[in-house]
Amino acid sequence: MAAMLNDIYFPEKLARSEQQALVEKLRSLISEAPLYRPVMPRSGKPLSVRMTNLGQVGWISDKAGYRYDPRHPETCKLWPSIPGSLLDLWQEVTPEGTPLPDACLVNFYDADAKMGLHRDEDEADLTQPVVSVSLGDDALFRLGGLSRKDKTSSLRLRSGDVVVLHGDNRLAYHGIGRIYPGTSTLLKQGGRINLTLRVAEMRG
Ligand code: SIN
Ligand code: MN
Repeated sequence: MAAMLNDIYFPEKLARSEQQALVEKLRSLISEAPLYRPVMPRSGKPLSVRMTNLGQVGWISDKAGYRYDPRHPETCKLWPSIPGSLLDLWQEVTPEGTPLPDACLVNFYDADAKMGLHRDEDEADLTQPVVSVSLGDDALFRLGGLSRKDKTSSLRLRSGDVVVLHGDNRLAYHGIGRIYPGTSTLLKQGGRINLTLRVAEMRG
């Protein structure tokens, strides 16, 4: 956690006005590419979060497995583009020369949603960073090590916070233990949006 605090955790990186502008933009992008509830590979069990994507490819989960796909699984349309403000944020928090992200997963958590411990490992180049943005209600983020059994540290993520998984943490297990409903007024109906920007395909 010590390394985490100055290396990967950027509290209140986005000002309230920037968060509001982003939510407005997301509202129109989500009307083009609606949130849907993915299911787990094999079991077909629904995830508790709803998802959509922005970018050339989007992360999807269905009975066949996890993968990146250029199209929304329900509308069959290409995903909308990643807004320029998120590309600017990516450049601010990643080392110079890092390729731009081609995928932005949008996760929506209602009061009861959570995300089990997992690693982000479906990308072609696992040395590229992952940047995650929190909007709306607070969430309990858990970050462990390279093995699922490793001890986890907890961090309460608030609206506007940014986390960068890179270096030793790029393949660390992480998840969301719970949402703290009613802790933010950013989203009028409550809940939490997490944006995860990634370089999914081999670039450059
Ligand atoms: C994820 O790891 O896919 C989401 C993390 C978060 O919601 O902050
Ligand atoms: Mn993840």
